Amino acid sequence: MKRVGLVGWRGMVGSVLMQRMLDENDFADIEPVFFSTSQTGKPAPDVGKDGVPALQDAFDIDTLKTLDVVLTCQGGDYTGAVYQKLRDAGWDGYWIDAASTLRMADHSVIVLDPVNRNVIDAALDDGVKDYIGGNCTVSLMMLALGGLLEQDLIEWVSPMTYQAASGSGAQNMRELLSQMGELSGIVKAELDNPASAILEIDRKVTEGMRSGTFPVEHFQVPLAGSLIPFIDKQLDNGMSKEEWKAGVETNKILGRSDNPIPIDGICVRIGAMRSHSQALTIKLKKDLSVGEIESILAGANDWVKVIPNEREATIRELTPAKVTGTLSIPVGRIRKLAMGPEYISAFTVGDQLLWGAAEPLRRMLRILQE
Ligand code: HSE
Repeated sequence: MKRVGLVGWRGMVGSVLMQRMLDENDFADIEPVFFSTSQTGKPAPDVGKDGVPALQDAFDIDTLKTLDVVLTCQGGDYTGAVYQKLRDAGWDGYWIDAASTLRMADHSVIVLDPVNRNVIDAALDDGVKDYIGGNCTVSLMMLALGGLLEQDLIEWVSPMTYQAASGSGAQNMRELLSQMGELSGIVKAELDNPASAILEIDRKVTEGMRSGTFPVEHFQVPLAGSLIPFIDKQLDNGMSKEEWKAGVETNKILGRSDNPIPIDGICVRIGAMRSHSQALTIKLKKDLSVGEIESILAGANDWVKVIPNEREATIRELTPAKVTGTLSIPVGRIRKLAMGPEYISAFTVGDQLLWGAAEPLRRMLRILQE
């Protein structure tokens, strides 16, 4: 039984991970040791088994060295502070990490086993010890397009994203709701009066959004009633870091960084809570019928679900409101575009905390036990 250290299990991604591990009875097959950056010595969480030690110090290299596996959702600062020290101290256990710090390192593999189990297995055979969760948007797109990727049918993809507040963190989710509440509060009297003028409502809401008192501490600008067409840092080439990740991470996950599929688009934050959506323009390598495309997509993994390109099915099935809290990866709006027979559109949605973050990590832990 592997001795597994869990770090960052109380944060947002960590809490989702814990729930999934409890749901899947993962703790029965490991010896868990819970770590904390601030509460060493306090009782460990109840995971349905005896003998789990009190919380250990997450910065204590000697304790970390006793582990077979470290699974961390603590974030990039923790990885930066601890990973190299632990390796320098001679530790050669498995490091499974949600943070992006080590994703593009030569010694790491980005894990998304329904898509790249072959890459993971080859890395395990080669003695690779670092297994990192991918960017949420990338993982969700790849699960949706798994069939076309597996059969190497894609020439390029342009994803235009609609990313939820949770991708920025828990405080941002709260701020989105505060902004929504603030906007609705400003016009409460008018909303209660069906005869009030909509343009007056809109004027007041816009004024409120632009006022110095609107809550924007975390997003810096209004998200509710608006959107933010830039996610993560600005790079020198005009891309946002989130946009850069789409291409480099997808190709690394597929093990084809030396023969990359061009993947590039614009990433946008919208006022959804925790499910990311993406509108995809895809150039295929050949002219396939919509029926063929749908069956290739539907057969790739257990979570992808093709939604017929019909209005009623689309508005009910292909939304954050439907998908949040589930592992389902619906993909729909599949049709040929006017540009030519190889050009198709698709739209996909996925919970960015489940398949986008926690699920690939717990599955990697399972793979290590096979
Ligand atoms: N970078 C993503 C976002 C979340 O901002 O939505 C984590 O992958």
